[in-house]
Amino acid sequence: PRCFALVPAAGIGERSGAGMPKQYVEIAGRPMLAHTLAALAAVPRLVQTLVVLSPADDRFESTVLAALPGYAGWVARVGGASRAESVLGGLAELRRRGAADEDWVLVHDAARCLLRPEWVDALLDACLPDAVGGLLAQPIADTLKAGDAAGRVTATIDRRDKWAAQTPQMFRLGLVERALRQMGAAATDEASAVEALGLAPRLVRASMANFKVTWPEDFALAAKLLAG
Ligand code: C5P
Repeated sequence: PRCFALVPAAGIGERSGAGMPKQYVEIAGRPMLAHTLAALAAVPRLVQTLVVLSPADDRFESTVLAALPGYAGWVARVGGASRAESVLGGLAELRRRGAADEDWVLVHDAARCLLRPEWVDALLDACLPDAVGGLLAQPIADTLKAGDAAGRVTATIDRRDKWAAQTPQMFRLGLVERALRQMGAAATDEASAVEALGLAPRLVRASMANFKVTWPEDFALAAKLLAG
């Protein structure tokens, strides 16, 4: 089986306050999505990366490709209304381009632009021999609170067995497609859809630095980390 990367980049990034889809915001001299694709292209065991854009996207070539001379990854404008639909569109496109049920697909958020090739290698090492697959994740260090709409604590949650789920999330194409079809738009990641089938994905520790650039203050932090 081969390993493909799939990057859903069809979101609008409402929480970022950037006034444009956040994957196109410039960080350390190039759009966030260019950093993400460059990191994946530096992993030799990934045979190809497919980026999923919105059908209305008119920025990718002039910004991201312009920042990545010689980039040979695949591009498909098959994004949907939810992350899960964008991923399903990408999986169908991978099939059209020759991927099979047993091939592995590493789904990675465009917005996790600090990805390092060695974390992807750790995921591959842990999951290639695994029957289910798995994801990068980070054990929670903070005490966790549930809160209400007024900003008051309603409960403290035991953090001892809690992890923050990151990406890439790595499963066989046939399995993750079946899982996402079954769960639909409610799936905020691939692992939750696979779990709903009764399977237990493997947790592979990466780094806090593999965070999803989401809030306005995240951009400056990401720029510092990418520059250093
Ligand atoms: O919105 P959120 O940060 O959870 O999005 C995670 C990833 O999924 C981002 O890379 C975003 O571009 C992508 N996405 C997508 N299609 C959507 C919504 C989000 O490809 N409809």
